[in-house]
Amino acid sequence: MKEAIEQIMKELAGLKAASQKEVEEARIRFLGKKGEVTALMEQFRTVAPELKREYGQKLNELKKAANARIEELKFSVEESEVAQAPKEDLSMPGDSFPLGSRHPVSIVRQQIVDIFRKFGYDVAEGPEIEDDYHVFEALNFPPNHPAREMQDTFFVSTGHVNPLLLRTHTSSVQVRTMEKQPLPIRVVCPGRVFRNEAISARAHCIFHQVEGLYIDKDVTFADLKQAILLFAREMFGPETQIRMRPSYFPFTEPSAEVDVSCNICHGKGCNICKGTGWLEIMGCGMVDPNVLKASGIDPNEYSGFAFGMGVERIAMLKWQVNDLRHYFENDMRFLGEFATATEV
Ligand code: PHE
Repeated sequence: MKEAIEQIMKELAGLKAASQKEVEEARIRFLGKKGEVTALMEQFRTVAPELKREYGQKLNELKKAANARIEELKFSVEESEVAQAPKEDLSMPGDSFPLGSRHPVSIVRQQIVDIFRKFGYDVAEGPEIEDDYHVFEALNFPPNHPAREMQDTFFVSTGHVNPLLLRTHTSSVQVRTMEKQPLPIRVVCPGRVFRNEAISARAHCIFHQVEGLYIDKDVTFADLKQAILLFAREMFGPETQIRMRPSYFPFTEPSAEVDVSCNICHGKGCNICKGTGWLEIMGCGMVDPNVLKASGIDPNEYSGFAFGMGVERIAMLKWQVNDLRHYFENDMRFLGEFATATEV
């Protein structure tokens, strides 16, 4: 029996297998029901009692060695099968998956805000559902001003003195800022606004604004002009010119509309600027003393300017989009055009 054990040990050491099938055959040959190791285990019963201890140990070692050797062969066959498997074609193009991008309105809003941040303005936000006081009354709208009427404003609740409504401009955020922030104030108010208008290429019932407010001692119209000129040059290029036309807003006096020189034809006249060489971009003015008073600011001590622009309008001018509705329809072909648009 001793010789038989040694013989099998030797054979195990020299055992080779080229496939899983051969490994299995080897396992059956040694460890199967009729295998060589199994047969020796059975013979163990007949071993003389004084040799049982020695042979028992030897047989156990043999069984362990056989199991280990078979496992080893199995592993090395697996390894070589993996190594021989056909290689993946690394030159094959990968699966591309569509990447989303920022919405053009977000990009432009962020650009406007970033420009004013550079000038030292903070960002203020406020509720979209507002009350009449913050949207109209505190902004010096006379009680029967047409902007309050049903045809302009979406009311959420009516019938009492201070009805709730969807804000028609973010000037309401300026009022809230004046109410709670210490002076001086320098803020921009980006946000969504709502007006009950028929949807067309030039108007929508929802759009976005960035409005600005600066209140300090001795703020003059010259400061307003300078701020807007610097903004226009950052936004539309260093050659940009501005002009101001007298206008009217209940909350500013004097008030003006701002035009920038057409960045497409550079003043020669094209169909974007309708042959005038100028594009209207915003309204602005010196904050009316009544507005300051309504928020508890002494107009004899402080003065300020305000301005407000439509984000979609600036985006249309920047990218020469001639229909506002594109910005709201979420057509992927349109939105994809802005995937590489850079931000300031
Ligand atoms: N609130 C005005 C609008 O929505 C814009 C504006 C803001 C005009 C500040 C002047 C000063 O049209």
